[in-house]
Amino acid sequence: MMTVDLRSDTVTKPTPGMLEAMWSARVGDDVFGEDETVNALEAKAAAMFGMEAGLFCPSGTMTNQIAIKCFTQPLDELIADQRSHVYRYEGGGIAFNSAVSTRLLDGDRGRITAEMIEPEINDINNVHYPRTSLVVLENTVNKGGGSCYTLEDIKPIATLCKQKGLKLHLDGARIFNALAHTGDPAIAYGQYFDGISVCLSKGLGAPVGSVLLADKDTIKYARRVRKVLGGGMRQAGFLAAAGIYALDHHVHRLTVDHAHAQILAEALSNQSWVEQVLPADTNIVLFDTVQPAKEVLQKLSEKGIKANATDAHRIRFVTHLDVHPEQVEYVVKALKEL
Ligand SMILES: Cc1ncc(COP(=O)(O)O)c(C=O)c1O
Repeated sequence: MMTVDLRSDTVTKPTPGMLEAMWSARVGDDVFGEDETVNALEAKAAAMFGMEAGLFCPSGTMTNQIAIKCFTQPLDELIADQRSHVYRYEGGGIAFNSAVSTRLLDGDRGRITAEMIEPEINDINNVHYPRTSLVVLENTVNKGGGSCYTLEDIKPIATLCKQKGLKLHLDGARIFNALAHTGDPAIAYGQYFDGISVCLSKGLGAPVGSVLLADKDTIKYARRVRKVLGGGMRQAGFLAAAGIYALDHHVHRLTVDHAHAQILAEALSNQSWVEQVLPADTNIVLFDTVQPAKEVLQKLSEKGIKANATDAHRIRFVTHLDVHPEQVEYVVKALKEL
């Protein structure tokens, strides 16, 4: 029986080429700023997105949490969609790390707009209210089923944030999936965001790591926060080398994952046990099941297919580097037999 792991795009293993790049990395002590491969990755990622500087961190949770710390003061409030990773899946870190509260919006599959944000910005002169200081967007939106913002969607939000003196952070865990779908250029992003978190260990297939991008002063402070959180790594260049390799070799192939997601979405939409399939714009397919998701997951696992439930009747399939065409074919066939 074939095994197909559709739980997450975080499950990929390094390719031989990536392992070779890691093996031959030139490293130093990154806490002393002496790891040339880490420095190269930070500079490369910053240049790609039109930002001044970067900071390599162990995880996307850490880059997001550091950004929130950099862009807020204790007692402030941030605005985000209710599905957002920073709010739901980072262990309450917004409150714990930054002593900040969260105002939640309900966007279209996680995508919020300037019109939705503006009325939620608190009156700074009224001491009843926390000071609104930050807006966080996620692109693609994980819990929105990989839904994307275009730059045209983002521009009015960035303009509003500038007008109101708010910082704007992007959780770009899957930003390259969004770019592959929208066709927007990465380089244009820097002018709209104060901070961007880019994950290397999701669709890009690196084993570890995310990069926080911002201006030089923010990154200088972010480096201090990373140390406090225990994220100062030493010969991290072995990991950064995987990140550089991923940026060079695994960005262009994301469209393959998107095509695979489309095939799965179409196959699912023809099954009587599927209530509805959400639009699969990128590499995530969300679908609602007639029976409890738990029961469907059990049947899938009996056929060697691993997936996750995101709600009592909702299942998520995620395509990635280690899901090959013959595995997609196998899943399509297995779905019919379920
Ligand atoms: C949208 C989003 N942001 C941030 C993260 C956090 O990344 P990490 O698992 O590296 O902490 C994830 C992880 O799945 C994610 O999906």
